[in-house]
Amino acid sequence: MLLFSLGIFLGLAARASSLDNGLLKTPPMGWVPWERFRCNTDCKNDPNNCISEHLIKAMADRLAGDGWKQLGYEYVNLDDCWAADKRDAQGRLQPNPQRFPSGIKALADYVHSKGLKFGIYSDMGRMTCAGYPGTTLDTIETDAKTFAAWGVDMLKLDGCFSNSSIKALGYPKMSVALNKTGRPIAFSCSWPAYEGGLPPKVNYTLLGKTCNLWRNFADIEDSWDSLFHIIEWYGKHQDTLQPAAGPGRWNDPDTLIIGDFGLSYEQSKVQVALWAVLAAPFFMSCNLRTISAEARDILQNPLLIYINQDSLGIQGKRVTKSHYFEVWKRPLINGQFAIAIMNNGTDGTPRPFVTTLGLLGILDCKAGYKIYDVLDKLFMGAYKLNDTISTKVTPTGVILFFLRPLC
Ligand SMILES: *[C@@H]1O[C@H](CO)[C@@H](O)[C@H](O)[C@H]1NC(C)=O
Ligand SMILES: *[C@@H]1O[C@H](CO)[C@@H](O)[C@H](O)[C@H]1NC(C)=O
Ligand SMILES: *[C@@H]1O[C@H](CO)[C@@H](O)[C@H](O)[C@H]1NC(C)=O
Repeated sequence: MLLFSLGIFLGLAARASSLDNGLLKTPPMGWVPWERFRCNTDCKNDPNNCISEHLIKAMADRLAGDGWKQLGYEYVNLDDCWAADKRDAQGRLQPNPQRFPSGIKALADYVHSKGLKFGIYSDMGRMTCAGYPGTTLDTIETDAKTFAAWGVDMLKLDGCFSNSSIKALGYPKMSVALNKTGRPIAFSCSWPAYEGGLPPKVNYTLLGKTCNLWRNFADIEDSWDSLFHIIEWYGKHQDTLQPAAGPGRWNDPDTLIIGDFGLSYEQSKVQVALWAVLAAPFFMSCNLRTISAEARDILQNPLLIYINQDSLGIQGKRVTKSHYFEVWKRPLINGQFAIAIMNNGTDGTPRPFVTTLGLLGILDCKAGYKIYDVLDKLFMGAYKLNDTISTKVTPTGVILFFLRPLC
């Protein structure tokens, strides 16, 4: 009886361990500028691509106008390089007046008028990574109030130009300060990325109580190497990372680079498949004005988004890794599963992969499962646990299966 009660107690404690702001019960979706537009402040020579209110409004227009919003892509965020070089006379952050002449409040209002949410960026340190004024321990409350007054819905707090002790004080302090504003503001912390992403320096229990999402590894860049490196780090450290995620608290392997320059069509499918299985934020960082039909089709796949947004919020895990193939599995609501089979080889021919549901460890529903090929939009049929599933996976490519039980 005592053990039983203790179990209940621990169960409740575990469930209460996410930041209590009611936000991000499923991973956030939207658009952020950093990977694609970097710190381009040259509005004179590059007015359409510089970090400015014009760029943010253009992306809000596209999110609302091109079918993104209806699918759940709702955040349009700023990243570094929006701020003026100095705080104002009252000590508040202010935007660069040439690039944001209408001010941030007006920009947030514009984004809200499109039925979208607006996110902003600061840095727990003396300066942001690009050298703009940062948030110090002394300015945390002022900055939280300023963001709330502007109508901000998400804050990403980077970690350049401060040490571990400042971060250990600053991130929890900002979490409290955001709460005190009374405005629900999702909190994205770069804290663990600056501490190597792993215990003992990173305490994932504490992170889950402090932040809604967190970057824990290297910034993504526009290449297969960068993407693969991130996937491998997540696989290698999954026993630490997987339990940290859940509704309201997500690992963030960084932005989707589909629609940019570095990934092939098949490699683009790898990123969305893995990000869906990892319950990762779906933040695009591409030019939505010129995105190809092909890239848009990948990102707007409803079944893919259904998997990513599964309400159980269980992060998937790599279940096998061999010389060529990695199999990743995510349990979903109602006994459903997502399975990603990635061919990490680079020898140029599609490689056969033959398996059964039983071999994939999917044994719950004896009657079998309906299998859908998510990214090729194919219904493959109903399979019993021992039926052979035969497929081919392209080099640096993936097959993403969605499994619906027949029970
Ligand atoms: C602040 O925290 C309390 C309790 O922890 C919670 O009930 C409330 O919804 C939070 N408010 C905001 C705006 O996050
Ligand atoms: C961290 O930085 C603060 C402020 O600059 C300083 O007072 C403190 O000694 C530093 N702590 C460590 C461990 O370096
Ligand atoms: C991690 O943080 C939690 C919550 O604040 C705390 O209870 C626990 O003792 C910490 N763990 C370690 C190893 O410091």
